[in-house]
Amino acid sequence: MAGLWRVGLTGGIGSGKSSVASILRERGAFVIDADAIVHQLEARGRPGWRALREEFGWPVLTTSGDLMRRKLGRRIFLDPGVRRRVDDLIHPLVRGQLYDMLEQWEGAGGRLAVIDIPLLVENGWDVEVNEMWVVYVTREQQRRRIMARDGLSRDDAERRIAAQLPLAAKLTRAHRVINNTGSYGQLKREVEAVWLDGLDSAQADGG
Ligand SMILES: Nc1ncnc2c1ncn2[C@@H]1O[C@H](COP(=O)(O)OP(=O)(O)OP(=O)(O)O)[C@@H](O)[C@H]1O
Ligand SMILES: [Mg+2]
Repeated sequence: MAGLWRVGLTGGIGSGKSSVASILRERGAFVIDADAIVHQLEARGRPGWRALREEFGWPVLTTSGDLMRRKLGRRIFLDPGVRRRVDDLIHPLVRGQLYDMLEQWEGAGGRLAVIDIPLLVENGWDVEVNEMWVVYVTREQQRRRIMARDGLSRDDAERRIAAQLPLAAKLTRAHRVINNTGSYGQLKREVEAVWLDGLDSAQADGG
């Protein structure tokens, strides 16, 4: 995949990755949503679902056999050992699917791909991308926005933010910072600028 420029899009919970991804898509970018890959792999009968059923058994499934995502999510949140077991099963599957999609895109003549990966840094995916774009907001905005979006209490929102590497630490690894402390209109202009830069990098890389 030497010719395809891979951008990792990340940030903190609620910092605006999905919002940036949809602006990029409107602009014609090829954007892969790593969360969506996980969801697809964990649908009943799919490889992720089979692996989780083997590892954890019926306690994580409903009577009709669907994965109880929230229940497993809570166990992951409370127990780092469970998180590791799930990650060890699911990450290789996600990586495989991701690389299939990248290869297809490159085969179709694509030069640049953006991959929206929430825990890019935490999970060591940064080695898989050529550059990293980090969506930045203040911690206060992060909290307010996820409270509004997910109907969370202040405490729950704080806990979710605290479970991730601080956004400020991710900034030190960023090739580009997308500032989302302003309005949607400002975000669009920020995204436009990094998108044009990204195209330049892809162009330069391809010679
Ligand atoms: N500039 C902005 N002004 C106001 N609200 C915003 C802005 N950008 C994003 N939001 C809102 O903040 C919330 C979080 O944004 P978004 O879902 O894009 O974040 P995310 O990084 O994808 O979150 P997650 O880590 O949970 O996937 C959403 O409800 C979104 O509509
Ligand atoms: Mg998102």
